Amino acid sequence: MLRTREFFKMNNKHMTLGEFIISNQKSFKYSSGELSRLINSIRLAAKVVNHEIRKAGLVDITGAAGDINVQGEAQQKLDVLANNLFKQTLINREIVCGIASEEEDDYVVVEGNNKANENKYVLLMDPLDGSSNIDVNVSVGTIFSIYRRVSPVGTPVTQEDFLQKGNEQVAAGYVAYGTSTMLVFTTGNGVNGFTLNPAIGTFYLSHPNMKFPEIGKIYSVSEGYFTHFQEGMKRFLIHCKELNKEDNRPYTARYIGSLVSDFHRNLIKGGVYIYPATAINPKGKLRLLYECNPMAFICEQAGGTASDGFTRILDIKPTELHQRVPFYSGSKQLVAKAESFMNEFSSDEKPVYE
Ligand code: AHG
Ligand code: MN
Ligand code: MN
Repeated sequence: MLRTREFFKMNNKHMTLGEFIISNQKSFKYSSGELSRLINSIRLAAKVVNHEIRKAGLVDITGAAGDINVQGEAQQKLDVLANNLFKQTLINREIVCGIASEEEDDYVVVEGNNKANENKYVLLMDPLDGSSNIDVNVSVGTIFSIYRRVSPVGTPVTQEDFLQKGNEQVAAGYVAYGTSTMLVFTTGNGVNGFTLNPAIGTFYLSHPNMKFPEIGKIYSVSEGYFTHFQEGMKRFLIHCKELNKEDNRPYTARYIGSLVSDFHRNLIKGGVYIYPATAINPKGKLRLLYECNPMAFICEQAGGTASDGFTRILDIKPTELHQRVPFYSGSKQLVAKAESFMNEFSSDEKPVYE
């Protein structure tokens, strides 16, 4: 009993996400209250998805005989489930005029009874990032990116509303479903992290004003593809492993295979995450609109750098909804070092966007 009381006392020292949204609404880029309501809806969807993810192991055990859940239905894949939960939460609240998602071939036009397309914002998301980690009980995430529409309010959204440069983002964030569940987001005034107390379903401001440490020594790259990397990337990886006391090398290799988790760890401990171009995937693997842009916005707001190895991610003009780009992000010095190798040895392979 005493323990429970102490626990709540501790939590109540921290501001809740709801309180944070109310007290910061004026600093949001456009402070009509619409963005606050949208972030509130994301908070709700994150809690529901968190609840589903935490059951995954149990469902797997009961469904082990043949992929059938307790209701006798074929078990839904969590990435589709997460997509539907986020989509439905936003559609039901009539809070966005359009949604684009990794799990949808095309963007979704949101039209409701209550003239939902009067809403100003579009949301792009990776509803479940790192889905290859679900079955092995390793952290996964959700990534979201928010823009103001560019097409006239009151008309159905168009592709142009989604193909905006990352530097037009109004807000971006991720949810990390790890040892604890965290919502980390920015509205262009720094980055704040909120940890969910699952007992009462409340997010608390546990990580105010998050910043990449100046000196990082973690590199996160799937080195198994080394043979397919460009020369600049290969030279950077050799550099990371060389002995050099001055800059604390060799560095530490950490790769979870969940962008959200790898990025989140590097944001706290200092490091660089790279998904480079490979001979097999010359544009890399990660998607510009709902993976790289939101992470790049958070990265810069936390004092880090995000590029494709040559060009700032937030300056790229997107051409397609599911466009892929190489992605270099994290502590300034480490990204700069990787870019310097790319410029020296692979400048003839610099991506061109038109
Ligand atoms: P998603 O599960 O949304 O498709 O994204 C997976 C991404 C990213 O999270 C991760 O860093 C990367 O794919 C891992 O890819 P590799 O297995 O090729 O390293
Ligand atoms: Mn992903
Ligand atoms: Mn995904």
